[in-house]
Amino acid sequence: MEQGQLSCEFQHTIEVTDDGSATLFVPALNEHYHSVKGALTEAGHIYRDCAFMHRAQSGVGERLRLLEVGFGTGLNACVTAMVADESHPVHYISLEKYPVDNSILKALRYDNLLDNGLMHAIHEAPWDEAVSVTPYFTLEKKRADYLSDPLPVSVDVVYFDAFAPEKQPEMWTPEAFRRLVEVMNAGAVLTTYCAKGEVRRLLASLGLTMERLSGPVGGKREILRGTLLL
Ligand SMILES: C[S@@+](CC[C@H](N)C(=O)[O-])C[C@H]1O[C@@H](n2cnc3c(N)ncnc32)[C@H](O)[C@@H]1O
Repeated sequence: MEQGQLSCEFQHTIEVTDDGSATLFVPALNEHYHSVKGALTEAGHIYRDCAFMHRAQSGVGERLRLLEVGFGTGLNACVTAMVADESHPVHYISLEKYPVDNSILKALRYDNLLDNGLMHAIHEAPWDEAVSVTPYFTLEKKRADYLSDPLPVSVDVVYFDAFAPEKQPEMWTPEAFRRLVEVMNAGAVLTTYCAKGEVRRLLASLGLTMERLSGPVGGKREILRGTLLL
C-alpha cells in the first residue's frame, strides 16, 4: 500500500501481546494498533498515566476535555474510564476515520481481561453523540477525519495515537500538528508513543514544552509528552 493512501477496507488479524492483552494487526500496513510488548500496559502508561492522570493532578474535580486521535479498539478509552471518578471526571472525544467492526472488537476479549463491563459499554456507545458511560466518563466517538474535519475545541489532554510516521506520514506534518495545538488550552498535555527527534522538535516549534519519558515497562523506547504552558 502506498504511503498516505490508507484504505478504509483494510483487514485485521488479532495478536496477543506480551502482557497477555490482544491487539489488532493490519497486514497491508505491517502495523499494530498497540505495542507488541503489551497493549494494555502501553494504554495505561503512555495515555492514562502520563497524560490524563498527570494533567488531572492540577485541577482536581474539573471535568477535563480529552481528545484522542484514533479510537481504534477503544482500549485507551477504557483504561481512562476506569480511573475517571468524582475527583477526575472527563469528557472523552475520540476521532476515528476507519471504525473497526464490533464483531472484531468483541473478539479481542477485552471485557474478560478488564472484567468491568466498561469496554462493552464503550464499544456499544453510538457514534457521533455524547453519552454518559459513567457519571464521570462521558464519551463522544466521532467518525471523523483528523486531517480535514473541524477539531473539537478547548482540549486539556491529547492522546496522539496515530499509526507510525513511516506508515501514515500525513498525520505527523507541521500543518496537522499546528491545527491540533490551536485547539489545546493553556496547560494542556499531549502524549504519544513516538519519541522521534523530528516529532519532538516539531511540537516544540509549535510552542509545546517537550519531555522524553520512560516507555512502558518491558518496552525499551522512550515516549514524548508535550505541555502547552500557561
Ligand atoms: C494506532 S491505532 C489507534 C489505537 C487506539 N488508540 C486504541 O486504543 O486501540 C491508529 C488509529 O487511527 C485511525 N486513523 C487513521 N487515519 C485517521 C484519520 N485521518 N482520522 C482519524 N483516525 C484515523 C486508524 O483507523 C486507527 O484506528
